[in-house]
Amino acid sequence: MNLSMKDKILQHFLQSKGEPISGQQLADELGISRTAIWKHLQTLQEEGYKFITIKKKGYQLVAAPDRVDAAKISSFLKTKRFGYSIHYFEEIDSTQSYAQKLARQGAEDGTVIIAEEQTGGKGRMQRIWHSAKGKGIWMTVIIRPNILPHQAPQLTLVAAVSVVMAMKSLYQNFTPEIKWPNDILINGKKCAGILTEMLAEMDRVDGLLIGIGINTNHELDDFPEDIQSIATSIAIEEKKKVDRAELVAEILKNLEHFTDEYVENGFTSIKTLWEEHSGTIGKRIKASTIRETIEGQAIGITDEGVLEILLDDGQVKKVYSADIEI
Ligand code: BTN
Repeated sequence: MNLSMKDKILQHFLQSKGEPISGQQLADELGISRTAIWKHLQTLQEEGYKFITIKKKGYQLVAAPDRVDAAKISSFLKTKRFGYSIHYFEEIDSTQSYAQKLARQGAEDGTVIIAEEQTGGKGRMQRIWHSAKGKGIWMTVIIRPNILPHQAPQLTLVAAVSVVMAMKSLYQNFTPEIKWPNDILINGKKCAGILTEMLAEMDRVDGLLIGIGINTNHELDDFPEDIQSIATSIAIEEKKKVDRAELVAEILKNLEHFTDEYVENGFTSIKTLWEEHSGTIGKRIKASTIRETIEGQAIGITDEGVLEILLDDGQVKKVYSADIEI
């Protein structure tokens, strides 16, 4: 974990779950002086954390700002390698563009780039991804699985399964569904999207950039007016504010687990999970590709992650990339 000393101190407080920690104990554990501890606590206070001193016991963290920084995420982390390098920004143009630079410089498997706000968030098909400050999870995970370039689309499905299962394990008041290939809908409205980009040579994948955007704590009027009827957030559906860092850690746990499962055992179990959580399969849909618009029943996905549509004349069409209306 590439945490600064200040973040390490913060992590101790976050993990103590509100119990006081003695300055001497912290100083001993971290190998720095009590004065240095005190200086870091001052800086944290300036950032919005609030500590009180309890006689004979030490310092107690009593308030924390709502941020998805490295210390906060790592206090929930249960992974072997993902999320041990976290690049956190208050504001960035796009975590995806930053991840491209880092990946080219050799960033390790499971590196996370996350921001409170994106000023140039990118969606699929050159669309804009609205990324309001402090309201969502705007992150890119750089992964380096040992796969061939043609397998990359399956990793998008691995990511969708990871996100939907993380939501299911943390929230009880709604059922998220995957809309092919990579949207997560709640009650028919879009709550999350995934953008996968690849760095590759002809025969070798250097890295995949899994860009995940999740509307977490938006109220309806936090969305631009033109998407208010088609967008939703976890807070709207769950009827309570969510801890974004907890959700990030849960997604990283799933993403690591299902990527490893995929690399070791292939696509079969991922495909089953994807179909189980899909709101597309079995439905009548309209698919708009660059070339045409077709209507029919979505009957499944192939081992390549391609959508199969049964047309009214009995033909089965394979769709590699399209916008889907259900
Ligand atoms: C979609 O069109 O549904 C995909 C949206 C992906 C948005 C995420 S937010 C984090 C990462 N950075 C970006 O600029 N885009 C992705």
